[in-house]
Amino acid sequence: MGNGEMDSSFAPGPILLLGAPGVGKGTQAKRLMSAFNIPQISTGDLLREHRRNHTELGKTAEDLMIRGELVPDELVNEMVASRLNEQDCKGGFILDGFPRTLAQSAWLDDFLERRAGMLPVVALNVSVQEGELLRRITGRRICTQGHIYNIYSQPPRQAGVCDVDDLPLDQRSDDSEAAFEQRMKLFYEQTAPVIAHYRALGRFSEIDGALAVEAVTQRIREQLLVLRHAAEATGVDR
Ligand code: AP5
Repeated sequence: MGNGEMDSSFAPGPILLLGAPGVGKGTQAKRLMSAFNIPQISTGDLLREHRRNHTELGKTAEDLMIRGELVPDELVNEMVASRLNEQDCKGGFILDGFPRTLAQSAWLDDFLERRAGMLPVVALNVSVQEGELLRRITGRRICTQGHIYNIYSQPPRQAGVCDVDDLPLDQRSDDSEAAFEQRMKLFYEQTAPVIAHYRALGRFSEIDGALAVEAVTQRIREQLLVLRHAAEATGVDR
């Protein structure tokens, strides 16, 4: 089985998709979710759902998200814990947008450490040049179900309407240029050290996110095979 194809016995385990705003984490996580039959857990999507449902967490997160600030670690960790405890996460999951601070990665490492039978975590860092990121962010359109488009690179069949569920497409409130600058600043300050942490742990790969969507998916699949086999070969169990 070559070229990044998975055999039916492939167990994905926990996968972290790391990278700056707009590199394509959500786009890729959704594709991997259907390929591996494991859930995508996007902390951004979960927080947006809380905002739509006007929960206490949603109310706290709203203003922070619009300004491109991070939601406090303890609130996000608690939200992730309750999602990871659901039954569908037993065989693995794709975390997209989490962890984003060293406090979150310390919490996650500890959480997974205490989970019996869970494969070791593998981490992929997707990178794209900053100039292209701004174009991706300002061109992005989404529906309330989280389907992602781009007016430049991935337009819907009918302008302003989701291909999948016919819902209207909108711009995210944090996809302004000002919020993007703040999100990038926090990415360099808070998330770059998280990437360094997983790079140092091993079971880590760099992915060129500037390629076409399908080519990025293919690279990720290939790297997951390599990383999972490396973990088996060294007998590492976390
Ligand atoms: P979140 O929703 O996680 O945003 P983000 O990390 O900034 O990432 P994005 O969703 O902007 O980008 P993406 O990498 O998923 O790219 P996408 O696939 O959409 O977080 C939002 C906010 O929530 C945060 O700012 C914070 O306030 C809060 N938050 C979330 N998690 C938190 C946490 N852990 N702790 C604290 N606060 C948290 O693609 C982007 C565009 O590019 C799309 O239009 C897409 O169509 C296009 N595209 C994708 N791939 C390609 C390609 N290969 N070629 C061309 N175009 C492409």
